Amino acid sequence: MKKIVILGATGSIGDSTIALIRKFSKQYQIVGAATNTSVSKLFNIADELDIPYLHIMDDPAYKSSKKLSTKAKVESSMTSLLEFLANADYDLLIAAMVGNIGLLPVLEAIKANKTIALANKETLVSGGHLVQELLKKHPKSSILPVDSEHSAIFQCLRGESKKEVKNIWLTASGGSFRNKSLEDMKSISVKDALTHPNWDMGAKITIDSSSMMNKGLEVIEARWLFDCKFDQIKVVVHPQSIIHSAVEFQDNSFIAQMGQPDMTVPISFALSYPNRNTLNHLKPLDLTTLGSLQFEAPDLTRFPCLKLAFLAGKTGHSAPTVLNAANEVAVDLFLKQKIQFLDIPKLIKNSLSHFKVYKSPNLDKILEIDNETRIYIRNNYEDIL
Ligand SMILES: NC(=O)c1ccc[n+]([C@@H]2O[C@H](COP(=O)([O-])OP(=O)(O)OC[C@H]3O[C@@H](n4cnc5c(N)ncnc54)[C@H](OP(=O)(O)O)[C@@H]3O)[C@@H](O)[C@H]2O)c1
Repeated sequence: MKKIVILGATGSIGDSTIALIRKFSKQYQIVGAATNTSVSKLFNIADELDIPYLHIMDDPAYKSSKKLSTKAKVESSMTSLLEFLANADYDLLIAAMVGNIGLLPVLEAIKANKTIALANKETLVSGGHLVQELLKKHPKSSILPVDSEHSAIFQCLRGESKKEVKNIWLTASGGSFRNKSLEDMKSISVKDALTHPNWDMGAKITIDSSSMMNKGLEVIEARWLFDCKFDQIKVVVHPQSIIHSAVEFQDNSFIAQMGQPDMTVPISFALSYPNRNTLNHLKPLDLTTLGSLQFEAPDLTRFPCLKLAFLAGKTGHSAPTVLNAANEVAVDLFLKQKIQFLDIPKLIKNSLSHFKVYKSPNLDKILEIDNETRIYIRNNYEDIL
């Protein structure tokens, strides 16, 4: 029985993880689950699956939770979550909350020598060097990627020697606006941007996919997960999302991982690693009916967020923290219809030039820079645009 803690239990990755745990209930037991605001959903899951510990990050939601009943212990505040992660008995942390709020919990689980199934890419974008340094001090801890691209690369690299890797190829669906002209992109609505052709995901990552910032965040995530140089990370648009990513080796061989676009598979692999669960209930991939697969270079003029992410990643130090925080606020402003879709990269670009690069930031500095960037964009977005 693997004991599991799920952060972001009420989101899209949380739903898929819990569906798998229901199916394999003899193998996995949830011992802790967390949400931001979705209290009744969390309590229903806890009552169904007998989860003893619940965490509600949002303070008003926590206060309102007192009106509902549950057998579980319920806590709020970052301090109590970190205490729980440091002291609880669990084997695997599923980090599936959205945003760089995940950084502190992930660092705490590493300190407790736990295995982390990481969906929450913003953590690695904002504080990747901190995660990597801490993993070196805690070799019993490890990160298993949940993002489908990174799970694919992780699978392609099994048994391979790192020095024989030439390039990592991240595939991108190209999002909803792959074929839209720059002129048409000026009038993209929130509803348009929340529709993804292949994947059913939470709001923030769906907007990130539409702007291709999601791929940019994944480039930085790949740099930390696979300890490679930015020049070794290539992005290719593959609209069918069948090849989830590939590794190119020094002898020019490619190994790619493929399957239906369904997050259940990489989540399941992270749960069952190093083995694989039998997933007969999912739609299989039939190569005889697949037809042709397309590949094309990303258009960095129409999708400047990808270019900005490469720029911030190569600059390093505090730049990815600024990129991530500016993007989180810009996406939120777009979702609230306060800015246009094409304003998102403008705000990120402005933040990257506004904040000087701070060398080798420690955790306190990362949190400070993250906070300052958020305040800067919230207070100045109208002037910047
Ligand atoms: N969805 C996918 O297919 C997919 C694929 C690859 C990677 N990822 C990554 O996985 C992460 C989660 O994505 P998602 O699509 O599952 O997002 P989502 O559906 O929006 O769910 C996010 C979860 O995080 C919780 N949360 C939000 N803000 C929080 C805060 N401040 N403190 C604590 N918890 C908070 C949410 O609680 P509430 O219910 O209260 O909002 C919810 O449980 C993201 O980093 C995303 O990039 C997702």
